[in-house]
Amino acid sequence: MHRRPIVVGNWKMHTTLTEAETLARRISLCVERLDGLDVVLLPPTIWLPSLVQSFHYRPSGLHFGVQNIHPELSGAYTGETGLGMIRGMAEYVLLGHSERRAQFGETDDFIRQKLAAVLRERLSPILCVGELTKVMLQTRGRGRPTTLEKQSDILRQLRAALLGVSERSVERLIICYEPLWAIGPNHRVSGPHVQAVIEQLRQYLGLRFGRTTAGRIRTIYGGSVTADVIDEYTVQPDIDGVLVGGAALESQTFLPIIEAVAEHAHHLRQHQEH
Ligand code: PGA
Repeated sequence: MHRRPIVVGNWKMHTTLTEAETLARRISLCVERLDGLDVVLLPPTIWLPSLVQSFHYRPSGLHFGVQNIHPELSGAYTGETGLGMIRGMAEYVLLGHSERRAQFGETDDFIRQKLAAVLRERLSPILCVGELTKVMLQTRGRGRPTTLEKQSDILRQLRAALLGVSERSVERLIICYEPLWAIGPNHRVSGPHVQAVIEQLRQYLGLRFGRTTAGRIRTIYGGSVTADVIDEYTVQPDIDGVLVGGAALESQTFLPIIEAVAEHAHHLRQHQEH
């Protein structure tokens, strides 16, 4: 089944507005030359209105999103951004990033509420799931594959987030396998390893929503992705793209990732046509 590849740039709490505008402009010029993929930029929310307005023309493959959101449209929630406030600006919403889970104490249930609200607003959630514990890091360090047992972080997070979600809306969902310990340099997970984890996630999605619907949900990987290693992920059949943090902050490091994903998708389409 063909799933449109996607590259997500998570700028986290970085960039000035000027830097964000310059970076977005360069990325836009790159995306304009390419087709068959989605590039999603997640700037700091405070820059979002200016960034969106600075584009008179935006290529159809370039999208904006937010790194976090409150599930209510508005309300008495000091310091939060309401889901109703990003209307018309953001198409994608990152949810359950390991930094939010680990540093800000976001629970499975709060992430479930956000996911339901984002789907209700007809936006696309990018749901991050992944191991948070050091035990898993040590296991991974020895190169053993993760088995997706019932009590594992990954499956628990996925199950909890999808509670009550209907098959009808789920096709807009993107799932990102993003283990906390793989963020930052030198800890990335190998391509075959990610493939094995995602296969198991897809198996669960198949049981939950049926194989056809599960086959339409895009699944991506995040954690220390750079242009040097991108091919290792694009060749895997179940990895539909990547979530990039550090390497998404400079056009020199981000554009080659976008180009590599687009090129791979192009070859795949050619192959399928013949
Ligand atoms: P990184 O971040 O690319 O800097 O490791 C990825 C992420 O935040 O998931």
